[in-house]
Amino acid sequence: MKILLLGSGGREHALAWKIAQSPLCTEMFIAPGNPGCMQFGKIVEISVNDFEAQKTFCLEHNIDMVVVGPEDPLVHGIYDFFQQSTLQHIHVIGPSKIGAQLEGSKAFAKQFMQKMNIPTAGYREFTRSNYEDGIEYIKQHTLPIVLKADGLAAGKGVVIAESTDHALASFHEMIQDKKFGDASTTVVIEEFLTGIECSVFVLTDGTHYCLLPSAKDYKRIGEGDRGLNTGGMGAISPVPFVDDAFMQKVTERIIEPTIKGLQQEQIVYKGFIFIGLIKVNEDPYVIEYNCRMGDPETEVVMPRIANDLLPLLTALKNETLHEHTCKIAPHHAATIMLVSAGYPEDYEKGKVISGVEDVKDSIVFHAGTKIINDELQTNGGRVIAITSLGDTLQNAIKLSNANALKISFEGNYFRKDIGWEFE
Ligand code: AMP
Ligand code: GLY
Repeated sequence: MKILLLGSGGREHALAWKIAQSPLCTEMFIAPGNPGCMQFGKIVEISVNDFEAQKTFCLEHNIDMVVVGPEDPLVHGIYDFFQQSTLQHIHVIGPSKIGAQLEGSKAFAKQFMQKMNIPTAGYREFTRSNYEDGIEYIKQHTLPIVLKADGLAAGKGVVIAESTDHALASFHEMIQDKKFGDASTTVVIEEFLTGIECSVFVLTDGTHYCLLPSAKDYKRIGEGDRGLNTGGMGAISPVPFVDDAFMQKVTERIIEPTIKGLQQEQIVYKGFIFIGLIKVNEDPYVIEYNCRMGDPETEVVMPRIANDLLPLLTALKNETLHEHTCKIAPHHAATIMLVSAGYPEDYEKGKVISGVEDVKDSIVFHAGTKIINDELQTNGGRVIAITSLGDTLQNAIKLSNANALKISFEGNYFRKDIGWEFE
């Protein structure tokens, strides 16, 4: 099977690492990829959103399957694009454009959850046309209050306001000043839920599903979960508090109604669903849906999938996922992200990276790197994820921490407290 994998981060390196282990994979191309992916396949200079170039490439190279890493091409309709007659034989892993709205529109996701009776924070949605109602809604709402730009906003579209003034100012910025452009034409305002977060990952063919390992990521830049939000500074899997009793609630109240809801609404969805949850007392609530795998969650989820991933992915097309099981390895995984100085705000690129070859017994996943004149350099805010496996969570974290110290580049920073609340 010939595969084209789209994306360029640590998630895609981890997917490439896993897919390359399959005897079914005869050739892999990664577009645009990163230097870490090179050992598993050929790098192709095509952007993830350039569907026409992907079409030409797939036809020229007899590609059988396109695995889509990031949300952008999914929300822009890559699945639907590949439904055109000359491409129909190529199997795209991911939801249809409308299915991807579960991530692409917070209002769509909220309406879906409300309709399917899936537990989530209470909410209302507002646009310019009912702006004054929004002001009144905010004024009478309890604090904190959560405002979310409806569309994709590169992880920056959520404001948790501790005061009514802050909420009103953010509401004005989003709707009147179009802070996020079209993405904040509609704003979802929801109640703040207090609890501990985790994520579950599901692979579905639209009718059946299999559960992948759970994970928890660490979004804040600073130790003790302080400071600005990032794409993710590290992750662990499994999550200690995600036990059988909690997973049963998640399955009955969230996963099954989600899959049934997609069927009921005739939404074509053959890919990954990443469900961001919050545990309030003992009960799960959905914070968000994503239509793809997480980053850096994939860097701990893939190493815990014990069986070949390709038969599972292949089964999506003909809706035969129920004939397969996803075997999850019992060991613990932890990943630690090395980031550039200044991240998640402005940072410089092009810093020489050394020490990667000194890492022992961990997996180095490249996130934002490039090779210039035979030298490995930084090429993003998140640079390298170091994943370790252990018989305990603590051992996995310890190993990643020790190996993180061996890699250096100017301004290198990483959190030394990943998994801190479970020590
Ligand atoms: P989202 O982009 O929807 O995942 O939101 C980003 C982050 O904001 C989440 O990971 C949560 O930490 C926080 N958050 C979002 N919605 C809520 C909510 N209703 N209650 C509490 N925290 C929330
Ligand atoms: N780590 C969070 C995400 O991938 O959205």
